[in-house]
Amino acid sequence: MSHLTHLLSLSRAARLIGVNRSELQKKIQHGDLHAFDGMVSIDELLRAYPRAQLEDDTEYSRVLHIREAAFGKRVFERAMPDAETLATRVTELSKELTLSQTQVKQFKLLLDRLRDKLTDMSKQTDAKAAVNELKTWLAAETTAALEHDYANPLAVRDNLLRVMAAHVTVLPSGHDFFVEGADTLLEGALRAGLPLNYGCSGGNCGLCRAKVVAGQVKKTRHHDYVLTESEKSQGYVLLCCNTAVTDVELEAPVAGGVQDIPFQQIAAKVKSVTGLNHDMVLLHLQTPRSSRLRFLAGQYVMLQLSKSLTAQLPIASCPCDERNILFHVRRMPGNLFSDYVFNRLKSNEVVDIEGPAGEFILQEKTTRPLYFIAFDTGFAPIKSLLEHAMSLDAAEAIHLYWIGSSDSSIYLPNIPRAWADALDNFHYTALVAGHDLSHLTALREEALLTMLKGIINEHPEVTDGDVYIAGPEAASKLAERFFLGLGLPKTRVFISYQSL
Ligand code: FES
Repeated sequence: MSHLTHLLSLSRAARLIGVNRSELQKKIQHGDLHAFDGMVSIDELLRAYPRAQLEDDTEYSRVLHIREAAFGKRVFERAMPDAETLATRVTELSKELTLSQTQVKQFKLLLDRLRDKLTDMSKQTDAKAAVNELKTWLAAETTAALEHDYANPLAVRDNLLRVMAAHVTVLPSGHDFFVEGADTLLEGALRAGLPLNYGCSGGNCGLCRAKVVAGQVKKTRHHDYVLTESEKSQGYVLLCCNTAVTDVELEAPVAGGVQDIPFQQIAAKVKSVTGLNHDMVLLHLQTPRSSRLRFLAGQYVMLQLSKSLTAQLPIASCPCDERNILFHVRRMPGNLFSDYVFNRLKSNEVVDIEGPAGEFILQEKTTRPLYFIAFDTGFAPIKSLLEHAMSLDAAEAIHLYWIGSSDSSIYLPNIPRAWADALDNFHYTALVAGHDLSHLTALREEALLTMLKGIINEHPEVTDGDVYIAGPEAASKLAERFFLGLGLPKTRVFISYQSL
């Protein structure tokens, strides 16, 4: 494929020049970047971002590194695919390169013949001047086209990217993601926050069955689940046992909403209970390898400890975080569940998880700016949504306001600070109310409204965005009324109340 016709998906184009996808979408909407069927050409990308050609890889690497660091992932461990996959990708690229070289040679020959033809014509016709003009034009165009094609570092960088990561498009939804390093197709999808259907992640249940309609995949592990001969011949594979060798198109259902996520009962184990400050602990559970919890970011589950103690808690981690499920638990003297977590819960103890439930989920399709208002432990579901929003990389800007009853209610300040340092489109503000946000008197309501008005002063454009609010019921409801009162429609204000 010649680079003159080299088309890139928006995700790949965004990666290549180190911007997020929403910026490209905006340029397309404003007519500053032309797209063909949702794809952009390298030439068009260079026209819109002329500086991309001049920069070295530093900025691109920096952005990639920052993204990885923000999610706490170990990039070096999973940066390289295995040797066989790498070899197949290089072979595929070599084929394309050979084809391109052949095409270029033919193109040159054709032009030489055209020039000869025109020379002949110019001797015979009376339209000599017109033909000469055409010749000059053709010579200039040919030189420019060939020089541009070969000197294009963006195209070279794209080839490198294609060796390092395969691009997967999921049909019919049109979602896409990259498979990096030794990841399976399922792991690549989950890291990108894509809720594909799956169960065991280990080749036993068959729930991740999907049809490969284009591209090559490779089996990376044995599976006990048996695909029928007819399924195999149609291209069905298990996503948890295969990786993408080349760019791939898959037919697979993507959960479109909470109704597509089944109710599950899983016996998880306590990995750790870590005190964050005097009033908060971070509870880290791990699900067994054979049954991972499917949920959408922002949902909650029922936890059962020691046979009879139960509590509904929002999940504070991203579905992309594989077997690790995090919860933020507040000290509540007299509450048996909280007392047990703070004083008795030990590593490896079994905790039963039931769920998930709740409709406080991200509206994935939106590219509008996102505003998150977390009151106290409302940060837990909001952290899950934020991580999901960051892995989707679709929102134009993300603003987080964490409003605490006291200083200690902002119990993980380093996480949003690190995101703000790492990501250009993430903005974080911490505010302290100085009173208990779960019990609001008229005076306290007034004080909280003044804080919310401060947000509007900073961002009068908040009514163009989506607002997500979570925390104690009193504060969350007040904030909901406030934002609806600004004229935001109900479909763009999302709220979640919490008890623990
Ligand atoms: S998730 Fe169970 S077989 Fe792949």
